[in-house]
Amino acid sequence: MLILAVETSCDETSAAVVNTAGEILAIETISQIPIHKKYGGVVPEVASRNHTLTILPTIQKVLKQTSKSSNLKTGLDSIDALAVTVGPGLIGSLLVGVNTVKTLGYLSNKKIYPVNHLEGHIYANWIQSSVTGYQLFVTSNQQTAINHRSQVTSNQSPLRLRSHSSLNLRVHPSESKTGQTKSKNPKIEFPALVLIVSGGHTALIKMTGHGKYQTLGQTLDDAAGEAFDKVAKLLDLPYPGGPEIEKRAKQGNPQTYNLPIPMQKSQDLNFSFSGLKTAVLYLVKKTKNLKTDDLCRNFQDVLIESLLQKTAKAAKIHKPKSILLSGGVIHNKALRQSFESRFKNINLYMPDQSFCTDNAAMIGVAAQYQSLKTSGKNWYDIDVNPNSKLSD
Ligand code: KG4
Ligand code: ZN
Repeated sequence: MLILAVETSCDETSAAVVNTAGEILAIETISQIPIHKKYGGVVPEVASRNHTLTILPTIQKVLKQTSKSSNLKTGLDSIDALAVTVGPGLIGSLLVGVNTVKTLGYLSNKKIYPVNHLEGHIYANWIQSSVTGYQLFVTSNQQTAINHRSQVTSNQSPLRLRSHSSLNLRVHPSESKTGQTKSKNPKIEFPALVLIVSGGHTALIKMTGHGKYQTLGQTLDDAAGEAFDKVAKLLDLPYPGGPEIEKRAKQGNPQTYNLPIPMQKSQDLNFSFSGLKTAVLYLVKKTKNLKTDDLCRNFQDVLIESLLQKTAKAAKIHKPKSILLSGGVIHNKALRQSFESRFKNINLYMPDQSFCTDNAAMIGVAAQYQSLKTSGKNWYDIDVNPNSKLSD
């Protein structure tokens, strides 16, 4: 079954076509980061207006790629069902994706899978690295690069196309010349302990099976990504703060400052990052010659340490068979390496870096797993839910 998935919950317009095995046939993601950068964060109204400009060309492009790669019929004919992020997220942004997909569902009479955005992040761990049409991805990425360059030079549009380049690097040896693959879904064993770390959420979740979640702990204030973004702002670094702080931290001295590790003494599995942010604020105010790189390093180190400690505590209590990481902050290399070295004796999974931040492939794969249990909904039963929760 081929699913066309759409994600517009924040500032990325993304569409993807994924098959039953969780392989991606086509994906296109347009990031609005260059637009929001000048405001220091995402402006909801601006985000939704830009989604309206990019949603149809994005969908059109992945449908074209899909039919080209698989010699299938053109357009929506090659698709069996639709999927869309219904929440949580910015209501105006969500409405663009949801109403577009509802219209496609109405016109084509296809069923729609409503996907919770956090569930999508979790299912990024089931995206297959081997793709059925890798030739297509080479072409697609070249086009992306060309599009990106032409936009920069012509300066016609501030939109940035995010390339999913790592797909090119991970073609399995089992693939034939046409890119056909026999790969299976990864055997992630349950119960799994999931750590979601994104711009809007930080939580530990016990996953007892597909679609079965129990929240063990969550942030009491700021999300980890939000802390990266706010601290970056305090340090006059551009939005989004995460990648910028990571870059600075690489050349920073870890010994110069001594920020506290958040929630080190707490007995539960909750997180808190606003105290850390305030500690940075005081340090910035009282320090004359602030060493920004060193502060970035110390901030990143203690934030990661807090995530490690709480995950270790949850693993000790709940004894999972696997640990899954997900969300935009998992893009951070230092974080990835720290988890790899701290959790050597357990199956640790994290999405490929290109699928940590928002993308439609993770929504499509989550929908594929939903389709094992339900047949999807009619367009008139789909609605946005900006406060959507993972169902326990
Ligand atoms: O998952 P995501 O794309 O969107 C939400 O659902 O929130 O996550 C975006 C967040 C932002 O706060 C961004 O600063 C953070 O992920 N992020 C990073 C890195 N890349 C993105 N944080 C730390 N290091 C990174 N390399
Ligand atoms: Zn997200």
